[in-house]
Amino acid sequence: MPESGSEEAGPRGSPLGAAYEDAAASGPWHEAAPDILLIPFWKSGFCGALIDAAESAGGFEPYPPDVSNNAAPGQELRIDRIDRQFAQRLEADLRQRLVPALQAHWWPLKPGKTRMPFVLRYSPETQAGLDPHHDAALVSLAMPLNADYEGGRLTFPRQHWDSRGVEEGTFIAFPGRVSHVHWVTPVSAGLRYALTVWIAAADQPPTDPIVP
Ligand SMILES: [Fe+2]
Repeated sequence: MPESGSEEAGPRGSPLGAAYEDAAASGPWHEAAPDILLIPFWKSGFCGALIDAAESAGGFEPYPPDVSNNAAPGQELRIDRIDRQFAQRLEADLRQRLVPALQAHWWPLKPGKTRMPFVLRYSPETQAGLDPHHDAALVSLAMPLNADYEGGRLTFPRQHWDSRGVEEGTFIAFPGRVSHVHWVTPVSAGLRYALTVWIAAADQPPTDPIVP
């Protein structure tokens, strides 16, 4: 297993370490709607491994500061609570494989720190959707991790676009603030999982907690 032996990973080691070796998806990115990019990033199989690891870790809940600061808290789990080594590998991978696409489209973008990414879990029984909101980020990234549910569409009314048909493992990238208000329509059946990544501007403090 790569990068093993770190005490930081805790007694469970890095449950996603071996799976990450074959995680990367290939394929070109494109602009699906005004300033909404679709960027293939992971294979479906790795998305499933991440879901399994998240459910194994457990503890989906609203992040406490978001309850007071954010109009739309979700049932979320920070990825460093799933696998700290994975959080650091994802950060390096974002810089290598994803940020160049952002900089190509939004030139001369200067991305700063990354907030600790989190997995969101939606279900009809707990939290089915997400109210209209903006994100606390310069660039916001949302990735479907599965497809076996009904409803649960990430919707951008100003861009007349939603996430139907976006495959698991593909990042949906968009400006976090005023231009791209969004919401998630209620999940009517099944469980919906998604990964959220927020990238701050280089000249602005990121929203805590950040990736170390
Ligand atoms: Fe959002």
